[in-house]
Amino acid sequence: MAVERTLSIIKPDATKRNLTGKINAKFEDAGLRIVAQKRIQLTPAQAGVFYEVHKERPFYGELCDFMASGPVVVQVLQGEGAIAKNREVMGATNPADAAPGTVRADFAESVGENSVHGSDAAETAAKEIAYFFSGLELVG
Ligand code: CDP
Ligand code: MG
Repeated sequence: MAVERTLSIIKPDATKRNLTGKINAKFEDAGLRIVAQKRIQLTPAQAGVFYEVHKERPFYGELCDFMASGPVVVQVLQGEGAIAKNREVMGATNPADAAPGTVRADFAESVGENSVHGSDAAETAAKEIAYFFSGLELVG
């Protein structure tokens, strides 16, 4: 399997509860390397551009407001099959469906406030990484 990079976001519900280190430990324990990371405060408009693919969904407005409700940690994870591996470590979108030991099973508060974002495919990963990072900031 090829070495990939994927965009991860530790969401405001998790930064608020001081869970950045515990979540990063799960990524690193799974063999994912954090090759770029920064803590930022999004505006609702910036969150809206990031989640544009969901703009017709009923939860879009709430999602954008939530993502701008506190700091987020945006990061690039690198490793063999990193995109799928990160989705495994994250667990299902709804924490009620997330497998034991996953980030969302252990930490998510609800289907909306579910602690982490992860890219879902190679094309979206490239686009999402470029939204937050320049090439110079990615140090493998
Ligand atoms: O994050 P993931 O790729 O697992 O799920 P998504 O279907 O791409 O949805 C993006 C985000 O929208 C989720 O992570 C939730 O924060 C939110 N969402 C929600 O608030 N209510 C839903 N019914 C589905 C998703
Ligand atoms: Mg998604």
